[in-house]
Amino acid sequence: MMTFTAKAPARANIIGEHTDYAPNGGHVLPTPLPFFTTVTIEAKGPAGQFSAVSERYPNEPVTRSLEEQARGGHWTDYILGCLRVAATKIAVPGVSLSVKSEVPIGCGISSSAALCVSVVRAVKAMTGAKWTDEEIALIAYEAEHDYVGVPCGKMDQFASSIARPGQALLLNTRTLEYRNVALPPDIVLMLVSCGKQHDLAKGDSYKKRIDRMNECIEARDQLGVSVLAELGYGDLPLLNKLRPVVAKRARHVITENLRVLEMVDALEKGDTGRQAELIAQSHISQRDDFECSIPEIDALVESSNRYGIRAARLCGGGFGGAIIALVPSDQATRWWKYVAKENPNASLISTYALNETESEHAA
Ligand code: GLA
Repeated sequence: MMTFTAKAPARANIIGEHTDYAPNGGHVLPTPLPFFTTVTIEAKGPAGQFSAVSERYPNEPVTRSLEEQARGGHWTDYILGCLRVAATKIAVPGVSLSVKSEVPIGCGISSSAALCVSVVRAVKAMTGAKWTDEEIALIAYEAEHDYVGVPCGKMDQFASSIARPGQALLLNTRTLEYRNVALPPDIVLMLVSCGKQHDLAKGDSYKKRIDRMNECIEARDQLGVSVLAELGYGDLPLLNKLRPVVAKRARHVITENLRVLEMVDALEKGDTGRQAELIAQSHISQRDDFECSIPEIDALVESSNRYGIRAARLCGGGFGGAIIALVPSDQATRWWKYVAKENPNASLISTYALNETESEHAA
């Protein structure tokens, strides 16, 4: 039997958190990470059914029908969702898939988008579908958002499908227009897990995320705009008429969206001081206004600040996960020693030098 293999990367978001879902419609600036999920697929078994095995869960090979409901974010839900959405566009036979992933789970770097995009790419390779990278991202999004029920925006799937190494993807999540932005050389993107996992698909993070989304919807409706990202700094006084908690959420979204655009400008001008300041403000806004940080994450950011690197912030969905810090290459080792000493439960996920093709993975 012919097999087809495809892979897709995880992502880190440089800046632009919680701007990407429907009521917000703002910009994001993710970059791909050198961690991949690889899927091998072959036609096998009856149509309308698939079997899957993952290196991560070797004792759990699964056979499921495409008619089944999601099982609360089980890893095969993502596969099922992708196959189901794909099957609305092209004939998909019964398939067998095998999954290998280097993407750490629960760190806020989109292990689920890497899985979905690699599955859709594999289906494309097998069926000869003529999907563009944008269409692949949208199929992956529909699978994750509509089928699995993850309250996500479109950033992760676009980052995994479209972003290029060493570049950030400036994506307008409302119009889906995008362009690449060069990232500075001699900077290492340090990703540090706080030791507490993040999982948007279930549990407390899911509930908090739904609350945040509803608060954003309330703000949008009360302010009479199509998306919160339509508003600028001059509009912030309008927030006074909202419930205080809703005003805080909206202030985060509006200012974070503007910070993404300012960050692109600072990157293009090579203004590293401004870059650091924007990243620092992004963290404060997530911590105080969107309230999606946790003490372990704040402690990592504070250590980085004490070391002297202000370009550090919570990365991804929050309520756990990891921080991202932009650290000059020649200081990366010293920075991590300092941060690790103050945060014994933290672990280094990756040190990704933006001007290198190979990453130096944490041991
Ligand atoms: C998660 C979601 C994304 C985005 C981020 C926060 O990663 O999957 O769509 O909303 O949270 O920026």
